[in-house]
Amino acid sequence: MDLFDVYPVNDITIVKGLGSYIWDDAGNEYLDFYGGHAVISVGLTNPYYVKRVTAQLNKIAFYSNSIKIPLQVELAEKLGQVSGKEDFQLFLCNSGAEANENAMKLASFHTRRKKIVAFKKSFHGRTSLAVAATDNPSIIAPVNETDNVVFLPFNDQDALEDYFQEHGRDVAAVIIEGIQGVGGINVAEVRFLQAIRNVCSEHGAVYIADSVQCGYGRSGKFFSHDFAGVNADIYTLAKGMGNGFPIGGIIIAPEIKAKYSLLGTTFGGNHLACAAALAVLEIIEGEGLMANAEKMGNYLMDQLKAIKQLENVRGRGLMIGFDVPESHKDLKKNLLAKHRIFTGEAKPNVIRLLPALNMGRKEADRLIEAIKEEMV
Ligand SMILES: Cc1ncc(COP(=O)(O)O)c(C=O)c1O
Repeated sequence: MDLFDVYPVNDITIVKGLGSYIWDDAGNEYLDFYGGHAVISVGLTNPYYVKRVTAQLNKIAFYSNSIKIPLQVELAEKLGQVSGKEDFQLFLCNSGAEANENAMKLASFHTRRKKIVAFKKSFHGRTSLAVAATDNPSIIAPVNETDNVVFLPFNDQDALEDYFQEHGRDVAAVIIEGIQGVGGINVAEVRFLQAIRNVCSEHGAVYIADSVQCGYGRSGKFFSHDFAGVNADIYTLAKGMGNGFPIGGIIIAPEIKAKYSLLGTTFGGNHLACAAALAVLEIIEGEGLMANAEKMGNYLMDQLKAIKQLENVRGRGLMIGFDVPESHKDLKKNLLAKHRIFTGEAKPNVIRLLPALNMGRKEADRLIEAIKEEMV
């Protein structure tokens, strides 16, 4: 049987990882500024994480949501404490798309409405409603096309308020990434997030903060939406939550009430996934990784801004993007081939940096030196 060929891959076979370093099958070492697409939060093969997940695996990995799973309660408590959303509720699933799917579905159940407001350049996943709320027609199958989703311009407060003025009573939810990832590292302005909070409160719509890529401490705060100083009604999580173990979740404001069978999943919240997510939170807290993301993010941004050929250096914490000029369009390829550094990209010309939250000065300097060498 052949693999279904949907991924253009680099010709590299990785056999080992540790912290921000990766080794291939020929023994070559690479520096990781991609984090497997923002998934690696506490570093590859983090020893504490490995120990906690292994210990759980030796006890029990999975049993269904039909029995008590105290690890879920422990995770909800820890997540509430580390994120500061202690009075919210947690529903666990397996991926980012599933988190957004459940969030929008829950908003529709809660409001009994159908319209979803999303934004230009958004990416929310590949399942039916998540992909319909993603601003990329090429990945929306005919069966996923719907008039229930409307795309407004990002960071345009007037357009948002005008839309709500006319259609507010039909809107179930507004869904927005605090920092657009796939769309090219576009930071939602504080006043725009505050305006979303206002229109949602005024018109009884649900504010969904897609934190799948920009959450879990990556921005320097637990949620990048926290920079606006307002609460969303639902936060969606995945990627960094399990440091590579598949787990997602939504955290839900107290006014949205649960009822049996409203949401459900077979694998979501299994013992092993909860152990992985707890290990991640314990490391983020114990090692002060949000503070490190802020510090190293500021350092990297300053260094990048000093490289005159790079344009529009932007982001927060360790979610950074910059535009590469046409004259250096092979930068990403060269960083990997010549300097053995993994970075991310966004079409057409953005380099995205999404390293582990515990990367240090040594790693930052190696990246900056490599970029400078490429710029001459
Ligand atoms: C902001 C955002 N939301 C949702 C998703 C979908 O997550 P998953 O691939 O785990 O379904 C992604 C994935 O890149 C994302 O960046």
